[in-house]
Amino acid sequence: MTNTVAIGIQWGDEGKGKIVDLLAPDADVVARFQGGPNAGHTLVIGEEKTVLNHIPSGILHDETLCLIGNGTVVDPFHLVEEMDTLIDAGIPVADRLKISERCQLILPYHRDLDAAREAAKGKNKIGTTGKGIGPCYEDKTARRGIRLVDLMADDLDARIDANIAYVNFMLTEYLKADPIDRDEVARAIELARERLLPLAADVPLILQRRIKAGDSVLYEGAQGSMLDVDHGTYPFVTSSNTVAGAALAGLGVGPGQVDAVLGICKAYTTRVGSGPFPTELYNADGMACPSGKHMAERGNEFGATTGRPRRTGWFDGPVVQHAVRINGVTGLAITKLDVLDGLEEVKLCVAYELNGERLQSIPACCNQLDAVTPVYETLPGWSENTFGMTSIDQLPANAKALLKRIEEVCECPIAMLSTGPDRNHIIRLTD
Ligand code: GDP
Ligand code: IMO
Ligand code: MG
Repeated sequence: MTNTVAIGIQWGDEGKGKIVDLLAPDADVVARFQGGPNAGHTLVIGEEKTVLNHIPSGILHDETLCLIGNGTVVDPFHLVEEMDTLIDAGIPVADRLKISERCQLILPYHRDLDAAREAAKGKNKIGTTGKGIGPCYEDKTARRGIRLVDLMADDLDARIDANIAYVNFMLTEYLKADPIDRDEVARAIELARERLLPLAADVPLILQRRIKAGDSVLYEGAQGSMLDVDHGTYPFVTSSNTVAGAALAGLGVGPGQVDAVLGICKAYTTRVGSGPFPTELYNADGMACPSGKHMAERGNEFGATTGRPRRTGWFDGPVVQHAVRINGVTGLAITKLDVLDGLEEVKLCVAYELNGERLQSIPACCNQLDAVTPVYETLPGWSENTFGMTSIDQLPANAKALLKRIEEVCECPIAMLSTGPDRNHIIRLTD
């Protein structure tokens, strides 16, 4: 019985939803520990596609308990809509889902602030998902956030009034935007009371009891290590810690309750939003290298949450080496290998150079990261179709050679390979 943290180790959208859904039958509990509706995790089962934002990717399995931990931020309108979509599809969400009473609520004014700040930044914008994530985490740290449990507090109205006064000052005086709609805030609170409070729970207590009873837990990350607020490409990051260590604080478990860390990454690289991307080949602003276009088109690289086109580029070894280090990754899950089918040659960035010097690790400063020169190895591609393959023996020799080189460069074994979006498109290399 193992407790595994499954996280993205690039810039998000690595295929976490698919991998967590396929591992869920081996787990008794699937728990989200950070992020919120900025996440878009896609599950494909036959003809059915499900996109989850807050809800853990174990929700389609009837034996799996799904937990939303204290480290997450929850938008009542959005989460209730997400729940209702699943309920309409016949999933008994209320029987399978519990939400930490300590999780922070994203209220409409967080979204207003997110939008107004991005507009004020102009071309220097972060390119957020616009879901109010940054302002909500900011309120948490400033100790003025509203948690699920606070909906029952006597001083709730006074706290919300104080927050509204502050936000309106910021919006109208500083950001030159419209003041917030108080009625919408009241509706969000009402909806959270009616639909989310009944699911509120003491998550650490549940986890302690389940783990003691021998149940296994799959901790599901959102975003990716390069979007981590400390270890990512700051300031072009999200506002939470996305690394494996965040699973502990974001759920209320101890280090001994994690046995393995699965680092999920694509066989190439993508990024949505602004910020450095050393191996970039293709983007909507006019960078149009044919290999990058191939990845964008064949990989259908559009954001699951916002629909924005994703930037694409070659596999970045230094990024994954960094992620292996900061997360203690014990095995890699390489996804979207099939997207590279048909390329004549495939490049692998094995190091960075800056001012003619080879770097030992990725620079902490974004301006330096923007200035690095990737050192590439070029490997022959393959013309065979790997889509949907389920055995390593089926893979073309050149694909195997690329994977071997990825293991060597990243100093981490590959535990599984994904060859298509469906739950069954998987090659398991270790148990
Ligand atoms: P997440 O945020 O990490 O869960 O990833 P997203 O769901 O945002 O994006 C991954 C996209 O790739 C989704 O559309 C998945 O259905 C799809 N996908 C996942 N694994 C594979 C794969 O191995 N091959 C292909 N072609 N698509 C995949
Ligand atoms: P999943 O879980 C990809 C990016 C945004 C932006 C930055 C900050 O599906 O992998 P935020 O709204 O969080 O303040 O935006 O982070 N971002 C993601 N990119 N996948 C995600 O989630 C992301 N969540 C946030 O594009 O660059
Ligand atoms: Mg996603």
